[in-house]
Amino acid sequence: MPNHKGFVLWFTGLSGSGKSTISNRLVSEFKARGYNVELLDGDEVRTHLSKGLGFSKEDRDTNIRRIGWVAKVLARNGVIAITAAISPYADIRNEIRADVESEGRAAFVEVYAYAPLDALVERDVKGLYKKALAGEIANFTGVSDPYEAPENPDFTAFTSEESVDKSVERLINHLAEKGLIS
Ligand code: ADX
Repeated sequence: MPNHKGFVLWFTGLSGSGKSTISNRLVSEFKARGYNVELLDGDEVRTHLSKGLGFSKEDRDTNIRRIGWVAKVLARNGVIAITAAISPYADIRNEIRADVESEGRAAFVEVYAYAPLDALVERDVKGLYKKALAGEIANFTGVSDPYEAPENPDFTAFTSEESVDKSVERLINHLAEKGLIS
């Protein structure tokens, strides 16, 4: 038996806030420990499971509900299901939490990847903020589309202030304190 429970580790945060980076590091860490782990990364999901969806509220909600459903099914079978999509709307995130927890077989842990918008625009890893600010991308989260930050996240990674190593270390300690991993 692996030394962990199945649970959903749900990242939320603006584009470029570090969701994928931290998630990928966690996957490596968990695999090294022999844990069963799967990552549902927003950019990747949009190339298959959610191919064809755009960025309207309706399409984002559909995307997030699909990711939530897959994560739930994995988690209830003992897998650590990590998701890394912006998931900008609080009501849908809460809906998924309620759905996962209602079965009583897996926990839902909400992780907020936080960095001030200024820092993300400054860094602009994918060059998308520049385009969004120039009006070349419509409905861009944080610029011309809403982002509803979690009011009470289980964990916050301060990605403009702390290193990836530090976020990962603190998060692993948090999960251990909750009894989800050993
Ligand atoms: S979500 O809102 O449905 O959760 P998701 O995480 O899948 O978004 O996709 C976000 C990624 O799509 C961003 O990191 C960025 O690379 C790209 N993207 C393209 N257009 C937009 C947009 N209008 N708003 C936000 N991200 C966009």
